[in-house]
Amino acid sequence: MRVQHLTGIRELAAGHLEALLERAEYWAKRPGEQSGLLAGRIIANLFFEPSTRTRFSFEVAQKRLGAHVLNFAAESSSTTKGETILDTLRMLEMMGVEAAVIRTSENGLLQNLAENVRLHLVNAGDGTNEHPTQCLLDLLTIKQHFGKIAGQTIAIIGDLRHSRVVGSHLHALPKLGAKLLLAGPPAMMRPEEELPAGVRVADLDEAIRTADVVMMLRVQLERHAEALFSSAEAYHQAYGLTLERARLMKPGAVIMHPGPFNRGVEIHTDLVDSDRSLIFTQVANGVAARMAVLEDLMNGGIGTWASSLETVGF
Ligand code: CP
Repeated sequence: MRVQHLTGIRELAAGHLEALLERAEYWAKRPGEQSGLLAGRIIANLFFEPSTRTRFSFEVAQKRLGAHVLNFAAESSSTTKGETILDTLRMLEMMGVEAAVIRTSENGLLQNLAENVRLHLVNAGDGTNEHPTQCLLDLLTIKQHFGKIAGQTIAIIGDLRHSRVVGSHLHALPKLGAKLLLAGPPAMMRPEEELPAGVRVADLDEAIRTADVVMMLRVQLERHAEALFSSAEAYHQAYGLTLERARLMKPGAVIMHPGPFNRGVEIHTDLVDSDRSLIFTQVANGVAARMAVLEDLMNGGIGTWASSLETVGF
């Protein structure tokens, strides 16, 4: 099982996903541990959209693996002078950069670049298409908490149309045997034809009452062409996870959110910090999931992990 790029979850087989999760679990059990598995290798992070969690957790993951990290500031790069991203990547390749982690507003950009570059591409979120490493860290969090993903019911609620996280989960959760329910305002729903078999649109009440995981999504105002609701409070009352709605959740059900979260809009502020919330665990797992992905792409692929561990003395 060897892939050159991580452009999306859609392209990964279930077995590959499971192997990545196993490796991410390995790293999650070793917080802060330093390794030399990518010692001396050079990785560039190219973020053309804002980010806190993804950008910094990739950088932490890269440093934990011993890589040299280059951070590209789009606004002070030659892309502002008209150089294309493909040509930018070719320049980086000539300097010895072996992998590029890219966040972009353009759906499918990495798939388009993949055929034309030698370095490894890692999708750190492309438009409303996919956010594969966020999906992996979410899956890791679910697996850690429940012991398995198969058989769990995940409800993803909110601005589904603009969410690249959902774009990845639509492929991942059915592949791994989980049930996925989608709920939210009709104007923010994914088109029916995009939904794979086994993914169902539910009403908000059913989604909250029946899910093992209630995953709330931010309203992505920056991607809305027009106002889709009258105020943050109106949205909270109509579609947010209020304290009253949270009381309807099943015993043992948990709350997740890929972030960034807007307290008091899609989720009540107290629920972010409640005992049922795995939101901060998700952030911690981002480092482990991204270590697994970088190792997979840059260090020989799944199946080579045992031997690489021997060489660095674990
Ligand atoms: N979840 C996520 O992608 O967060 P950032 O935009 O902060 O990276």
